[in-house]
Amino acid sequence: MAQTIRKAVFPAAGLGTRFLPATKASPKEMLPLVDKPLIQVSVEEAVASGIDSVLIITGRDKSAIENHFDISFELEHLLKEKGKTELFELVRSISDIAKISYTRQKEALGLGHAIYQAKDFAGDQPFAVLLADDVVDAETPALKQMVNVFEKYNAPVVATMQVEGEAISRFGVIDAEEVEPNVFRVKDMVEKPAFADAPSDLAIIGRYIFTPDIFGAIERTKPGAGGEIQITDAMRLMLKDRPFYAVKLQGTRHDAGDKLGFLIATVEFALKRDDLGSGLRDYLRSLDL
Ligand code: UTP
Repeated sequence: MAQTIRKAVFPAAGLGTRFLPATKASPKEMLPLVDKPLIQVSVEEAVASGIDSVLIITGRDKSAIENHFDISFELEHLLKEKGKTELFELVRSISDIAKISYTRQKEALGLGHAIYQAKDFAGDQPFAVLLADDVVDAETPALKQMVNVFEKYNAPVVATMQVEGEAISRFGVIDAEEVEPNVFRVKDMVEKPAFADAPSDLAIIGRYIFTPDIFGAIERTKPGAGGEIQITDAMRLMLKDRPFYAVKLQGTRHDAGDKLGFLIATVEFALKRDDLGSGLRDYLRSLDL
């Protein structure tokens, strides 16, 4: 059988400057999408895509994330005692979600550097990387769409989404050839091109599947923009040595690391909830905009 993906890495050591002051003492990955922290939303996506082993790369203030996935003895005991069985099960299930370990990125030297901290965890296996602040609302989980492509082509895969107009300049953009509907062989990639220079309308978003040779490429990557080790630069080095694929994801992506993107994601998710949707819809309709 083709090799599949069982391991996933969640870089969560960024400074989250776009979301200050909320991120002063708490990682942005703990911001809740309605009532679920972003990191849990993305770990659930990974588990639904076949992942059973998770590594979270933390920075300062890692305790909130660790505590969230740990058993909360006192809370569980109290909920049980008060007969709140459903809440007890909800809380308990979070600590059973996957095998989770943690490692620390001592300095925020960029996403490439954060991913490099997963070298021992990955060993000789391919692995996924998910950025929890990129929320993808999709019928088939975003990572699952990528795993399907990995299993077929046995090569690294990046997630992309179509971005119309000038907004493309905020992303890494691929130059690629479509090999089947929504699957592309990547020829090159450019970080934040001017609209006129963008090689396509396909923007790279925060989901990747890498093979272990990414670590050698990161070692060879010199610090780029902002003195950080950029993962796009490492991927460009890797492109010289091996085929690399991109998937155009089916679904809606929200940048929940950005205040407006976070608000939109919150409203979209709340509107879909049975317990909140109709109340929120009534409220939104009542607004005099
Ligand atoms: P972002 O580009 O969103 O950066 O990182 P950031 O620092 O978290 O946020 P802003 O832009 O200052 O508001 C993308 C992902 O990479 C992780 C972040 O935690 C986020 O999940 N990251 C980034 C690291 O783990 N380490 C780094 O050194 C940089």
